Amino acid sequence: MKKLLLHLDTDPIPSAFDQAVAYDSNVDNIIAYGGITRDNVTPHVHGMIFTRGGKNLKNSAIFIGGSNVSASEMVGRAVKKAFFGPVKVSVMLDPNGSNTTAAAIVRKVLTNYDVTGKKVVIVGAGPVGQRAALFLLKEGAAEVIITSRDITRSKAIAHQMKDAYGVDITLGEARSDESVSALLKDAHVAIAAGPAGVCVISESAWMNSNNLEVIADVNAVPPQGIEGLEVMDNGTEREGIRFYGAIAIGNFKMKVHRGAIESLYESNDQFLDETTIYDIACKVDKQ
Ligand SMILES: NC(=O)c1ccc[n+]([C@@H]2O[C@H](COP(=O)([O-])OP(=O)(O)OC[C@H]3O[C@@H](n4cnc5c(N)ncnc54)[C@H](OP(=O)(O)O)[C@@H]3O)[C@@H](O)[C@H]2O)c1
Repeated sequence: MKKLLLHLDTDPIPSAFDQAVAYDSNVDNIIAYGGITRDNVTPHVHGMIFTRGGKNLKNSAIFIGGSNVSASEMVGRAVKKAFFGPVKVSVMLDPNGSNTTAAAIVRKVLTNYDVTGKKVVIVGAGPVGQRAALFLLKEGAAEVIITSRDITRSKAIAHQMKDAYGVDITLGEARSDESVSALLKDAHVAIAAGPAGVCVISESAWMNSNNLEVIADVNAVPPQGIEGLEVMDNGTEREGIRFYGAIAIGNFKMKVHRGAIESLYESNDQFLDETTIYDIACKVDKQ
Protein backbone atom coordinates (compact mmCIF):
# COMPACT_ATOMS: atom_id res chain seq x y z
CA MET A 1 0.00 0.00 0.00
CA LYS A 2 1.33 3.48 -0.89
CA LYS A 3 2.57 5.77 1.87
CA LEU A 4 0.51 8.96 1.61
CA LEU A 5 1.35 12.25 3.30
CA LEU A 6 -1.26 14.97 3.70
CA HIS A 7 0.83 18.14 3.76
CA LEU A 8 -1.06 20.98 5.47
CA ASP A 9 0.57 24.39 5.26
CA THR A 10 -0.68 27.57 6.90
CA ASP A 11 1.12 29.61 4.20
CA PRO A 12 -0.77 30.18 0.93
CA ILE A 13 1.61 27.92 -1.03
CA PRO A 14 2.74 24.66 0.57
CA SER A 15 6.47 24.51 1.22
CA ALA A 16 8.57 22.89 -1.53
CA PHE A 17 11.30 22.19 1.06
CA ASP A 18 9.01 20.14 3.30
CA GLN A 19 7.67 18.18 0.32
CA ALA A 20 11.15 17.43 -1.03
CA VAL A 21 12.22 16.11 2.38
CA ALA A 22 9.11 13.93 2.54
CA TYR A 23 9.89 12.33 -0.84
CA ASP A 24 13.46 11.73 0.38
CA SER A 25 11.95 9.97 3.40
CA ASN A 26 10.26 7.29 1.27
CA VAL A 27 6.80 8.88 1.08
CA ASP A 28 5.13 7.68 -2.14
CA ASN A 29 2.67 10.50 -2.67
CA ILE A 30 2.02 13.92 -1.12
CA ILE A 31 -1.37 15.62 -1.07
CA ALA A 32 -0.52 19.26 -0.36
CA TYR A 33 -2.77 22.17 0.59
CA GLY A 34 -1.86 25.76 1.44
CA GLY A 35 -3.94 28.36 3.28
CA ILE A 36 -4.86 25.87 5.99
CA THR A 37 -6.47 27.20 9.16
CA ARG A 38 -7.99 25.55 12.21
CA ASP A 39 -11.40 26.37 10.68
CA ASN A 40 -10.94 24.69 7.28
CA VAL A 41 -8.76 21.71 8.18
CA THR A 42 -11.34 19.13 9.31
CA PRO A 43 -12.55 17.89 5.88
CA HIS A 44 -8.93 17.28 4.82
CA VAL A 45 -8.30 15.21 7.93
CA HIS A 46 -11.47 13.21 7.34
CA GLY A 47 -10.28 12.57 3.79
CA MET A 48 -7.27 10.78 5.27
CA ILE A 49 -8.87 8.88 8.13
CA PHE A 50 -11.97 7.59 6.32
CA THR A 51 -10.26 6.19 3.23
CA ARG A 52 -8.14 3.49 4.85
CA GLY A 53 -9.22 1.38 7.78
CA GLY A 54 -7.70 -0.66 10.59
CA LYS A 55 -4.05 -1.57 10.21
CA ASN A 56 -3.85 0.24 6.86
CA LEU A 57 -4.30 3.62 8.56
CA LYS A 58 -0.62 3.65 9.43
CA ASN A 59 0.16 4.11 5.72
CA SER A 60 -1.41 7.57 5.82
CA ALA A 61 0.07 10.49 7.78
CA ILE A 62 -0.16 14.26 8.15
CA PHE A 63 2.57 16.93 8.12
CA ILE A 64 1.74 20.43 9.41
CA GLY A 65 4.03 23.29 8.39
CA GLY A 66 4.00 27.02 7.74
CA SER A 67 5.98 30.12 8.63
CA ASN A 68 3.49 31.22 11.31
CA VAL A 69 4.30 28.84 14.15
CA SER A 70 1.32 29.63 16.39
CA ALA A 71 -1.13 29.32 13.46
CA SER A 72 0.34 25.90 12.66
CA GLU A 73 0.07 24.84 16.30
CA MET A 74 -3.63 25.79 16.24
CA VAL A 75 -4.05 23.63 13.14
CA GLY A 76 -2.36 20.80 15.05
CA ARG A 77 -4.93 21.06 17.84
CA ALA A 78 -7.79 21.12 15.29
CA VAL A 79 -6.37 18.03 13.56
CA LYS A 80 -6.39 16.14 16.86
CA LYS A 81 -10.01 17.18 17.43
CA ALA A 82 -11.01 15.90 13.98
CA PHE A 83 -9.94 12.33 14.85
CA PHE A 84 -12.48 9.80 16.13
CA GLY A 85 -10.96 7.73 18.93
CA PRO A 86 -8.64 5.16 17.32
CA VAL A 87 -9.60 6.38 13.83
CA LYS A 88 -6.60 8.63 13.38
CA VAL A 89 -3.29 8.93 11.56
CA SER A 90 0.14 9.98 12.77
CA VAL A 91 0.99 13.69 12.63
CA MET A 92 4.25 15.67 12.47
CA LEU A 93 4.26 19.35 13.46
CA ASP A 94 7.33 21.30 12.29
CA PRO A 95 6.29 24.86 11.43
CA ASN A 96 9.12 26.79 9.78
CA GLY A 97 11.43 23.88 10.60
CA SER A 98 11.47 25.11 14.20
CA ASN A 99 11.30 21.76 15.99
CA THR A 100 13.81 19.89 13.83
CA THR A 101 16.20 22.87 13.74
CA ALA A 102 16.18 23.48 17.50
CA ALA A 103 16.65 19.76 18.15
CA ALA A 104 19.63 19.74 15.75
CA ILE A 105 21.27 22.76 17.43
CA VAL A 106 21.02 21.16 20.84
CA ARG A 107 22.31 17.75 19.72
CA LYS A 108 25.30 19.50 18.08
CA VAL A 109 26.01 21.52 21.25
CA LEU A 110 25.83 18.30 23.27
CA THR A 111 28.37 16.46 21.07
CA ASN A 112 30.84 15.18 23.68
CA TYR A 113 29.64 17.96 25.98
CA ASP A 114 27.71 17.78 29.24
CA VAL A 115 25.53 20.84 29.76
CA THR A 116 24.54 19.84 33.28
CA GLY A 117 24.91 22.81 35.60
CA LYS A 118 26.04 25.14 32.80
CA LYS A 119 24.84 28.62 31.87
CA VAL A 120 23.52 29.10 28.34
CA VAL A 121 22.74 32.34 26.48
CA ILE A 122 20.49 32.17 23.41
CA VAL A 123 20.42 35.36 21.35
CA GLY A 124 17.15 35.37 19.39
CA ALA A 125 13.81 34.62 20.97
CA GLY A 126 11.96 33.20 17.97
CA PRO A 127 10.52 29.68 17.79
CA VAL A 128 13.96 28.11 17.25
CA GLY A 129 15.53 29.88 20.23
CA GLN A 130 12.59 29.06 22.49
CA ARG A 131 12.64 25.36 21.64
CA ALA A 132 16.41 25.14 22.00
CA ALA A 133 16.01 26.68 25.49
CA LEU A 134 13.42 24.05 26.41
CA PHE A 135 15.63 21.14 25.28
CA LEU A 136 18.72 22.50 27.08
CA LEU A 137 16.83 22.96 30.34
CA LYS A 138 15.52 19.40 30.04
CA GLU A 139 19.11 18.25 29.46
CA GLY A 140 20.15 19.78 32.79
CA ALA A 141 21.41 23.29 32.01
CA ALA A 142 21.42 25.30 35.23
CA GLU A 143 20.27 28.49 33.55
CA VAL A 144 19.14 29.44 30.07
CA ILE A 145 18.88 33.11 29.18
CA ILE A 146 16.84 34.00 26.10
CA THR A 147 17.36 37.49 24.80
CA SER A 148 15.11 39.86 22.96
CA ARG A 149 15.77 43.45 21.97
CA ASP A 150 12.65 44.25 23.99
CA ILE A 151 12.51 43.12 27.60
CA THR A 152 8.69 43.10 27.61
CA ARG A 153 8.80 40.51 24.82
CA SER A 154 11.28 38.43 26.84
CA LYS A 155 8.88 38.56 29.79
CA ALA A 156 5.95 37.40 27.64
CA ILE A 157 8.05 34.50 26.29
CA ALA A 158 9.10 33.49 29.82
CA HIS A 159 5.42 33.37 30.87
CA GLN A 160 4.45 31.35 27.76
CA MET A 161 7.24 28.84 28.37
CA LYS A 162 6.28 28.45 32.02
CA ASP A 163 2.63 27.85 31.04
CA ALA A 164 3.38 25.50 28.15
CA TYR A 165 6.29 23.46 29.54
CA GLY A 166 6.66 24.35 33.23
CA VAL A 167 10.25 25.58 32.68
CA ASP A 168 11.89 28.75 33.97
CA ILE A 169 13.96 30.77 31.54
CA THR A 170 15.96 33.84 32.49
CA LEU A 171 15.22 37.09 30.71
CA GLY A 172 17.89 38.90 28.76
CA GLU A 173 17.92 42.13 26.83
CA ALA A 174 20.11 42.30 23.72
CA ARG A 175 19.76 45.89 22.58
CA SER A 176 23.48 46.46 21.94
CA ASP A 177 26.82 44.76 21.55
CA GLU A 178 27.64 45.80 25.13
CA SER A 179 24.53 44.15 26.54
CA VAL A 180 25.26 40.88 24.66
CA SER A 181 28.86 41.03 25.86
CA ALA A 182 27.72 41.45 29.48
CA LEU A 183 25.35 38.47 29.17
CA LEU A 184 28.11 36.26 27.74
CA LYS A 185 30.66 37.22 30.41
CA ASP A 186 30.16 34.13 32.57
CA ALA A 187 28.17 31.92 30.13
CA HIS A 188 29.42 28.46 29.11
CA VAL A 189 27.37 28.11 25.92
CA ALA A 190 26.28 30.79 23.42
CA ILE A 191 23.74 30.16 20.66
CA ALA A 192 22.82 32.60 17.90
CA ALA A 193 19.19 32.02 16.88
CA GLY A 194 18.56 35.43 15.39
CA PRO A 195 17.14 36.11 11.93
CA ALA A 196 18.92 35.06 8.75
CA GLY A 197 21.70 37.43 7.65
CA VAL A 198 22.05 39.33 10.94
CA CYS A 199 25.17 39.14 13.15
CA VAL A 200 23.88 39.05 16.73
CA ILE A 201 27.11 38.16 18.58
CA SER A 202 30.29 40.13 17.77
CA GLU A 203 33.77 38.64 18.01
CA SER A 204 34.65 40.96 20.89
CA ALA A 205 31.55 39.76 22.81
CA TRP A 206 32.62 36.11 22.76
CA MET A 207 36.36 36.87 23.06
CA ASN A 208 35.73 38.85 26.28
CA SER A 209 33.86 36.00 27.90
CA ASN A 210 35.60 34.10 30.71
CA ASN A 211 33.94 30.67 30.51
CA LEU A 212 32.65 30.00 26.99
CA GLU A 213 33.10 26.38 25.92
CA VAL A 214 30.66 25.95 22.99
CA ILE A 215 29.24 28.40 20.42
CA ALA A 216 26.59 27.54 17.80
CA ASP A 217 24.94 29.58 15.04
CA VAL A 218 21.92 28.52 13.03
CA ASN A 219 21.94 31.38 10.50
CA ALA A 220 23.21 30.18 7.10
CA VAL A 221 22.92 33.56 5.34
CA PRO A 222 25.98 35.89 5.43
CA PRO A 223 26.92 37.67 7.55
CA GLN A 224 26.96 34.82 10.10
CA GLY A 225 25.03 35.22 13.34
CA ILE A 226 28.35 35.04 15.19
CA GLU A 227 31.33 37.03 14.00
CA GLY A 228 34.41 34.85 13.49
CA LEU A 229 32.43 31.61 13.14
CA GLU A 230 32.54 29.73 9.82
CA VAL A 231 29.34 28.28 8.38
CA MET A 232 31.10 24.89 7.92
CA ASP A 233 32.36 24.69 11.53
CA ASN A 234 31.52 21.32 13.01
CA GLY A 235 33.24 21.32 16.37
CA THR A 236 36.16 23.49 15.16
CA GLU A 237 38.20 24.82 18.10
CA ARG A 238 39.23 28.48 18.38
CA GLU A 239 40.54 30.12 21.53
CA GLY A 240 39.63 26.93 23.40
CA ILE A 241 35.96 27.19 22.32
CA ARG A 242 34.15 24.67 20.14
CA PHE A 243 32.18 26.17 17.20
CA TYR A 244 29.20 24.78 15.26
CA GLY A 245 27.97 26.58 12.11
CA ALA A 246 24.70 26.45 10.21
CA ILE A 247 25.76 23.80 7.69
CA ALA A 248 26.74 21.24 10.35
CA ILE A 249 23.51 21.97 12.21
CA GLY A 250 21.48 21.95 8.96
CA ASN A 251 22.91 18.58 7.88
CA PHE A 252 21.89 17.06 11.19
CA LYS A 253 18.48 18.76 10.98
CA MET A 254 17.86 17.04 7.64
CA LYS A 255 18.53 13.65 9.24
CA VAL A 256 16.12 14.44 12.07
CA HIS A 257 13.43 15.67 9.66
CA ARG A 258 13.75 12.54 7.51
CA GLY A 259 13.82 10.27 10.57
CA ALA A 260 10.66 11.89 11.90
CA ILE A 261 8.80 11.50 8.58
CA GLU A 262 9.85 7.86 8.32
CA SER A 263 8.69 7.12 11.85
CA LEU A 264 5.19 8.47 11.08
CA TYR A 265 4.48 5.24 9.17
CA GLU A 266 5.33 2.93 12.08
CA SER A 267 1.88 3.36 13.64
CA ASN A 268 -1.23 5.52 13.22
CA ASP A 269 -1.23 7.14 16.66
CA GLN A 270 1.83 9.38 16.94
CA PHE A 271 1.84 13.16 17.32
CA LEU A 272 5.37 14.40 16.66
CA ASP A 273 5.79 17.82 18.24
CA GLU A 274 8.77 19.63 19.77
CA THR A 275 9.20 17.08 22.55
CA THR A 276 8.91 13.92 20.49
CA ILE A 277 10.98 15.35 17.65
CA TYR A 278 13.77 15.99 20.17
CA ASP A 279 13.54 12.32 21.24
CA ILE A 280 13.92 11.33 17.56
CA ALA A 281 16.97 13.63 17.30
CA CYS A 282 18.54 11.81 20.26
CA LYS A 283 17.98 8.46 18.51
CA VAL A 284 19.43 9.78 15.23
CA ASP A 285 22.45 11.05 17.18
CA LYS A 286 23.14 7.55 18.52
CA GLN A 287 23.09 5.91 15.05
N1 LIG B 1 18.36 25.41 8.59
C1 LIG B 1 17.04 25.38 8.75
O1 LIG B 1 16.37 24.48 8.26
C2 LIG B 1 16.37 26.44 9.55
C3 LIG B 1 15.03 26.28 9.89
C4 LIG B 1 14.41 27.24 10.66
C5 LIG B 1 15.14 28.36 11.06
N2 LIG B 1 16.43 28.49 10.68
C6 LIG B 1 17.19 29.67 11.11
O2 LIG B 1 17.10 29.77 12.52
C7 LIG B 1 17.15 31.13 12.91
C8 LIG B 1 16.06 31.39 13.92
O3 LIG B 1 14.80 31.11 13.34
P1 LIG B 1 13.46 31.71 13.98
O4 LIG B 1 12.34 31.35 13.06
O5 LIG B 1 13.37 31.36 15.42
O6 LIG B 1 13.86 33.26 13.85
P2 LIG B 1 13.01 34.59 13.81
O7 LIG B 1 11.74 34.39 14.54
O8 LIG B 1 12.97 35.07 12.40
O9 LIG B 1 13.99 35.57 14.57
C9 LIG B 1 14.48 35.30 15.88
C10 LIG B 1 14.50 36.57 16.72
O10 LIG B 1 15.54 37.44 16.30
C11 LIG B 1 15.21 38.75 16.75
N3 LIG B 1 15.56 39.73 15.70
C12 LIG B 1 14.84 40.08 14.62
N4 LIG B 1 15.50 41.00 13.88
C13 LIG B 1 16.67 41.23 14.55
C14 LIG B 1 17.79 42.08 14.33
N5 LIG B 1 17.85 42.87 13.26
N6 LIG B 1 18.80 42.05 15.22
C15 LIG B 1 18.76 41.24 16.29
N7 LIG B 1 17.73 40.42 16.57
C16 LIG B 1 16.70 40.42 15.70
C17 LIG B 1 13.72 38.78 17.01
O11 LIG B 1 13.54 38.95 18.40
P3 LIG B 1 13.25 40.38 19.07
O12 LIG B 1 12.47 41.20 18.09
O13 LIG B 1 12.46 40.01 20.28
O14 LIG B 1 14.58 40.93 19.40
C18 LIG B 1 13.25 37.39 16.60
O15 LIG B 1 12.29 36.83 17.45
C19 LIG B 1 17.08 31.96 11.62
O16 LIG B 1 18.39 32.41 11.30
C20 LIG B 1 16.60 30.97 10.59
O17 LIG B 1 17.09 31.26 9.30
C21 LIG B 1 17.07 27.56 9.97
